[in-house]
Amino acid sequence: MPTSSDSGGRETPALAVQNLVAGYGDFAVVDGVSLEVPVGKVVAVAGPNGAGKSTLLKAMLGIARVMSGKVLLDGQDVTSAPLEKLARLGVGYVPQLDDVFDSLKVLENLEMGGYLCNRVERQRRIERVLQVFPQLQAKLHRYAETLSGGERKMTAIARVLMLDPKILVLDEPTASLTPELSRVVLEEQVRPLSAMGTSVLLVEQKAVAALAIADWAYLLVRGRVEVSAPAAEVLSDPNMREIFLGRAAAEVAARSVDAE
Ligand SMILES: Nc1ncnc2c1ncn2[C@@H]1O[C@H](COP(=O)(O)OP(=O)(O)OP(=O)(O)O)[C@@H](O)[C@H]1O
Ligand SMILES: [Mg+2]
Repeated sequence: MPTSSDSGGRETPALAVQNLVAGYGDFAVVDGVSLEVPVGKVVAVAGPNGAGKSTLLKAMLGIARVMSGKVLLDGQDVTSAPLEKLARLGVGYVPQLDDVFDSLKVLENLEMGGYLCNRVERQRRIERVLQVFPQLQAKLHRYAETLSGGERKMTAIARVLMLDPKILVLDEPTASLTPELSRVVLEEQVRPLSAMGTSVLLVEQKAVAALAIADWAYLLVRGRVEVSAPAAEVLSDPNMREIFLGRAAAEVAARSVDAE
């Protein structure tokens, strides 16, 4: 994949925000956030309920209102560009809710995902996403509303992969899943995408599972970045772990990491 560099010789991030202030109406939820998603890396954003994680993603994707600051896609200023335009530029977004069309079959969801392609290309991409998610093959003719939580999320991610995104933005992909299924989605479905060159921005409340597959982690609290650090460092440093997870959760996580 071709990559570009800024004047300092550093690779231009796939996606970045600089001093972003954003929210709804006149109310700023995101309060001066800067963040980078390097090419081919997984970046996780964790934080408590209501911290502004979804709003941050929505502001990056032209859905929430940007009051100041910039959104850069491969170095290009796309601040407040509509999602439709971003999709054409290679951004795939799987929202926290309403991520599949319930009244459509899985196959129809995939076809909808490939709406920018011609029929032949769409077919080729369906075959390709089925290689990524072979479990969906047997479900192609099922209505999405009849799927399990895991199958549904798989369909949602597969639908977005139909556009062959350069960067995938996932808002709590494991929200409705059991801890075991969450681990499977993150380790077996999300992480391999970055190995294929796709950059991933991942919002998760299941911070330990997210950090385990992430290269870099941000902790968002009340609309601000409290911590920005390598994910492995957060997991291995008890103090950092406590800051990210809270004391009780950090102790549980420490036991599960130490047990491995
Ligand atoms: N459409 C909206 N209009 C007005 N305020 C909103 C809207 N959506 C969210 N908010 C407010 O913005 C704040 C941050 O919400 P947001 O959904 O970004 O948090 P979050 O970190 O994604 O939380 P969660 O972990 O529960 O998904 C909350 O106070 C919420 O009430
Ligand atoms: Mg949210």
